Amino acid sequence: PETITVRELAEKLNRNPAEIMKKLMGLGIMAAINQTIDFETAEILAAEFDVAVESEKTEEEELLQEIVDDEANLVPRPPVVTVMGHVDHGKTSLLDAIRKTNVVSSEAGGITQHIGAYQVEIEGEKITFIDTPGHEAFTAMRARGAQVTDIAVLVVAADDGVMPQTVEAINHAKAAGVPIIVAINKVDKPDANPDRVKQQLTEYNLVAEEWGGDTIMVPVSAKTGKGIQQLLEMILLVAEMRELAANPNRPAEGVVIESRLDKGRGPVATVLVQKGTLRVGDSILCGLTWGKVRAMVDDRGQRVETAEPSCPVEVVGLEEVPMAGDIFRVVDEKIAKQVSAMRLDEKKREEQAKTARVSLDDLFKQI
Ligand code: GTP
Ligand code: MG
Repeated sequence: PETITVRELAEKLNRNPAEIMKKLMGLGIMAAINQTIDFETAEILAAEFDVAVESEKTEEEELLQEIVDDEANLVPRPPVVTVMGHVDHGKTSLLDAIRKTNVVSSEAGGITQHIGAYQVEIEGEKITFIDTPGHEAFTAMRARGAQVTDIAVLVVAADDGVMPQTVEAINHAKAAGVPIIVAINKVDKPDANPDRVKQQLTEYNLVAEEWGGDTIMVPVSAKTGKGIQQLLEMILLVAEMRELAANPNRPAEGVVIESRLDKGRGPVATVLVQKGTLRVGDSILCGLTWGKVRAMVDDRGQRVETAEPSCPVEVVGLEEVPMAGDIFRVVDEKIAKQVSAMRLDEKKREEQAKTARVSLDDLFKQI
């Protein structure tokens, strides 16, 4: 948190400290000359004197220069869809069914490797699906500032109805500002009651279009395949309205979907490219770690040289295993190494501070 004293601010603004204090009082803040005020307050105050304030960059921000994309360089990109819902309502089955009906025919029946995210193509339009292992992962990603999803597909089993994790998923999607499409699953079951699901969802302000609301709800069966094409079409429709775009011609940036340590290949991360194009040979900074992209494998197990926006790929070449939700970016190798070391240092310091506090607390407890 950045702060500045009244005196320092007065000097910077080339004003009398008394004048600053008076203005502060006007904002309801009583501050003495040596007292500090926060950045937001300083900003408001400076604006009163027609001065714009810029927060000072950290060492890391200096090293990692933000790339601002020119509107003119943005190109449409596929939507990234996360499937969420209560346990056993059929998230994985639905993803499997979507994948099975939409993979290239030569692969049908072949071994499809699980990489946590994949792309399908419908009439020339791509959709990227992310198989979140749980809401925890989604929360962790959001906590780290990674906005991964463009559209949430909420799976609700027609025989079971709205359950606690259904509500959690709704809350997550709403908090992230992501549009929700409801897939009412398991409609093949004799005790399926899609209308009851629609009724229950109205309590959470999700009102079906056919009931006068604006939420798309599609009855589906992951078992029989019913409704799946319609669901995909609806996803594309919502995606089109969002006008999703990214600049493919810049150093890549994105987020780690999942990661593991592979016996032969070392740290392996499934990443989603969000901006730019990731290339074999690129140096990347990724959370606390860094590395040089040695190889990339797509969702079909094929080696690829490049990955464009919204493309999920497995990356080999990181020094350590990153965490799901970690943000990666392509930077100069030297900078990647340096910033990774800085972040590790910072983390170590934080941990030491934590243990110091804990042992002090323990000490006081003993006394
Ligand atoms: P978790 O990952 O454990 O939260 O579960 P999930 O939501 O991924 O559910 P999953 O796909 O594992 O399906 C749970 C069970 O429901 C499995 O036994 C599936 O075979 C069954 N199932 C899923 N979809 C359908 C469907 O459309 N119809 C029927 N009859 N059964 C289904
Ligand atoms: Mg599952």
